[in-house]
Amino acid sequence: MIYSRIAGTGSYLPTRVMSNAEFEKRLDTSDAWIRERTGIASRHIADEKQTSSDLALEASKRALEAAGLAAKEIDLIIVATSTPDFVFPSTACLLQAKLGVAGSAAFDVQAVCSGFVYAIATADSFIKNNMAKKALVVGAEVFSRILDWNDRGTCVLFGDGAGAVVLVAGDKPGIHASILHADGSQAGMLSVPGNVNRGAICGSPFLQMDGQGVFKFAVRVLDESAREVAAAAGLTLADVDWLIPHQANVRILDAVARRLKLPAHKLVVTVDHHGNTSAASVPLALDEYVRAGRILPGHRILMQGVGGGFTWGSSLVTL
Ligand code: ACO
Repeated sequence: MIYSRIAGTGSYLPTRVMSNAEFEKRLDTSDAWIRERTGIASRHIADEKQTSSDLALEASKRALEAAGLAAKEIDLIIVATSTPDFVFPSTACLLQAKLGVAGSAAFDVQAVCSGFVYAIATADSFIKNNMAKKALVVGAEVFSRILDWNDRGTCVLFGDGAGAVVLVAGDKPGIHASILHADGSQAGMLSVPGNVNRGAICGSPFLQMDGQGVFKFAVRVLDESAREVAAAAGLTLADVDWLIPHQANVRILDAVARRLKLPAHKLVVTVDHHGNTSAASVPLALDEYVRAGRILPGHRILMQGVGGGFTWGSSLVTL
């Protein structure tokens, strides 16, 4: 049996840090309101010229270095993003070129804040089916480009960044199991309902959200998919060392950990200083905790996504 395992992690955050105080100056909001309702204190915002593939490149270089691999050894690149550089070609193809290589398969996955879990599950399937041996899986976003900066209900929630992992084939897991779900009937709850049409934007280019609807939906499906993936892996939630849910909001994270009866010290929280970085949030959080020496080889990690679509899923991994 072929399995895949994480051989290295990396991440990158744009240098500009934006605190809640900056919103106070422009909008009818406060640091206290944002912290109390979301747990977010600051987020990183990309430079005008930085694209998702630029952020992905830095995260990928760090993941490759951690894995001790060169870019030319990678035979599959998957980038999870909802803020691609272009309509096409894919951000994965642009990343491949920036890494200075050619020939591997490269494509994007669009599952919004579940994108990284969808991408990990896809790369794992490629490796298990002997269609790839070494995969670079990236979540990269510049959500600052799709926010209405005058809408206090959404613009305070998000940040930019990228995280990456290198997956390699091995004879034991690694990735024990992944499960993915979607419910397209909930598309209107969180969306950027616009497109490019004959040279103009048709619809809206800005993120729109039913905040309370998202909150309730996210807590329910993160709870359900954690139990589902543990059962699929033949493990229990007590076997989990670290829970890394999509970093949307501290109150969502706390509610999920409580429902799963996981103690607070097993819950990974980075949304306080990253904001919600959509597809980048899980690999960013993973890399931060790995580099801090908190998540260690042998630890079991439950990674979870939930986001627009609606989409959701979980992946249970031994590092
Ligand atoms: N500052 C001050 N007041 C605000 C702000 C703000 N930044 N944003 C909204 N308000 C106001 C509203 O206008 C409203 O005012 P009103 O009563 O005069 O109409 C009031 O606060 C209450 O608004 P609610 O939407 O009911 O506030 P709620 O307690 O639900 O908090 C929040 C809003 C933080 C968005 C919450 O619903 C939430 O966290 N939802 C989850 C959304 C999320 O995480 N989205 C991320 C993307 S989805 C994903 O990643 C899965």
